Formats: sequence, C-alpha cells, structure tokens
Amino acid sequence: MPLVTTTEMFKKAYEGGYAIGAFNVNNMEIVQAITEAADELKSPIILQCSSGARKYAKHAYLVHLVKAALEETNIPIALHLDHGADFEICKQCIDGGFTSVMIDGSSLSYEDNIAVSKKVAEYAHERGVVVEAELGTLAGVEDDVKVEHGSESYTQPDQVEDFVNRTGVDSLAIAIGTSHGAYKFKPGQKPQLRFDILEEVTRRLPGFPIVLHGASSVLPKYVDIINANGGKLDDAIGIPEDMLRQAAKSAVCKINIDSDLRLGLTAGIREHMAAHPEHFDPRQYLTDARAYVKEVVAHKITTVLGSEGKA
Ligand code: G3H
Ligand code: 13P
Ligand code: ZN
Repeated sequence: MPLVTTTEMFKKAYEGGYAIGAFNVNNMEIVQAITEAADELKSPIILQCSSGARKYAKHAYLVHLVKAALEETNIPIALHLDHGADFEICKQCIDGGFTSVMIDGSSLSYEDNIAVSKKVAEYAHERGVVVEAELGTLAGVEDDVKVEHGSESYTQPDQVEDFVNRTGVDSLAIAIGTSHGAYKFKPGQKPQLRFDILEEVTRRLPGFPIVLHGASSVLPKYVDIINANGGKLDDAIGIPEDMLRQAAKSAVCKINIDSDLRLGLTAGIREHMAAHPEHFDPRQYLTDARAYVKEVVAHKITTVLGSEGKA
C-alpha cells in the first residue's frame, strides 16, 4: 500500500469516535516496532519525524525506512513532519515524499502564524499534501524550543474559526494542558486537561480534526524498569490514560506520542544491559528495546486510541 494522507483517516476517526496515533520515529527499530504493532492490530498509523529526527537520521534514511515498513505491512501509513518551524522545512518535506506536514507557528504572533500557515497550506495542497497548524503553546521541550511550565498558553476558542478559515489548514493542534516530555505536571499537582476548551473549539469547528501534542502517559512500568536498572527518572508524570481515551472519542483525531516510546526503548536497553553486562552486540539489547516499544504502541492502540481493527 502506498503512503496515504490523513484525510480519510481523520474522517473515519472523527465519525467512529477514535483517534490515530502519531508516533515519532528516529531509527529503524522504532519504525519496525510501531508498524509491526499496528499491523498486528490492524490499526492505521501516522509516523512523524521532527527536525531533530531529520538531523539525527537524515531525511532519506527516514523516508526509506518508512517505505520499507509499507512493504512489510498492510495498513494505511501517513508520513508527517512534526513541528515544522518554517516554510522552508515544510517545503523540503512536501517535496521529499511526506504526505502531511505540521507548520508550527504557535510561538509567532497570531497574524504571523496565519501568514506562514496559509503559505504552507497553499504550497502543500497544490501537491496533494495535508497540513496541521497550531494555536496556543504547550509547555515542555521540542527541538530547540523550551517553554517553561507556567509560560504555556491555552488555545483561545474565539480565534479558531478565523484561523482555520484564513489559513485553509486541514487540522489544528490545540493547547488544553498537555505538554511535551516526561515531566508534564509538578509533583503533587493534579493532572488536568481543559475539556471545556476542547468542547468550545469543537462547537466552533464542527467536524474539524483536532490534534493533541504532548500526550504521553509516562507509563509507570517503563519508568520503574529504568529506575530499577540504574536510571534516574523521579517525578516523571504524564497524562492519565482515561483523559486521553475521552479525548480520542471526541473531535481529537490525532494523538502524538514520543516520550512513551523513548521510555520503552530505554527500559529495554537498561534492563538488558543490567542482566547481561557482558553483552556488546547491539542486536541483543536492541531486540529487547524494540519489543518494549512495540508493547507500548500496542497498548496505546487498544487502551487509548481505540484504532484497533480500523485499518
Ligand atoms: O514534540 C516533540 C517530539 O517529542 C520530538 O522531539 O524534537 O527531540 O525529536 P525531538
Ligand atoms: P510527548 O512528549 O508527550 O510524547 O509528545 C510528543 C509530541 O507531541 C510530538 O509532537
Ligand atoms: Zn509535539
């Protein structure tokens, strides 16, 4: 099956009350783990690459790894640019085989965000590629941008219609309390999402696909394995899975997960190396690491996303 855009995926997800997992990929083992889990569960999937991933693995390697996954599986896969910082990087990915790009103008002024998102949408649409934009800012770290907790800002629902109408984008990432990374809430702070904002956005944009970034749950199993094997991840707190499940049943059609994959991978490596300190063949510890990433993805599909059997 060739790469697909997210148009059909989102339409079915919106109508069916589930969401598509958008998983960040950085190397072969991660691509294999995600796509094998999705293939076994017959789930559509989005593989997304950040600027950091393109710097680390190189654009061509990532595209070809994803193409290999298409040959090995039989599910709809979209290839998406995560957090495109400007028109140029979006153009590179549109021209370079991606089927979807995010233009992240969320740190710009409202008018500048509109201008760059509109420019990307026009360029992308002429080439059959879809576009995600963002309104509001999340706390946490993504590539070189760090937003301190307390400096994030929720999406203002009274801006969303104007923004979507003037830019022509195909989906919108909103800020309702999720954040990037493994430390989403302060110790003792009650995890909370602003479902009232999500409802108001949905009322103003009926039928329009909404995206949640920063949606890892920081699964305790993998944090515990890491900490039991020499790691130090105290106070890591993610988004409760029941809240994500609730979001997936609503207008949220795309849920972004990276940190949980990183935790699974690191847990596998640490556990393997602690049990076998004499090993130095990467195939040995990466086999265990890949298995944990696959387990994380299967868990997300069945427990959070509800996309099992929707391929
Ligand atoms: O939103 C950020 C993603 O987790 C990607 O992270 O920029 O470190 O690759 P990265
Ligand atoms: P997490 O850090 O919660 O996994 O979020 C990933 C993300 O939003 C990628 O764009
Ligand atoms: Zn993100």
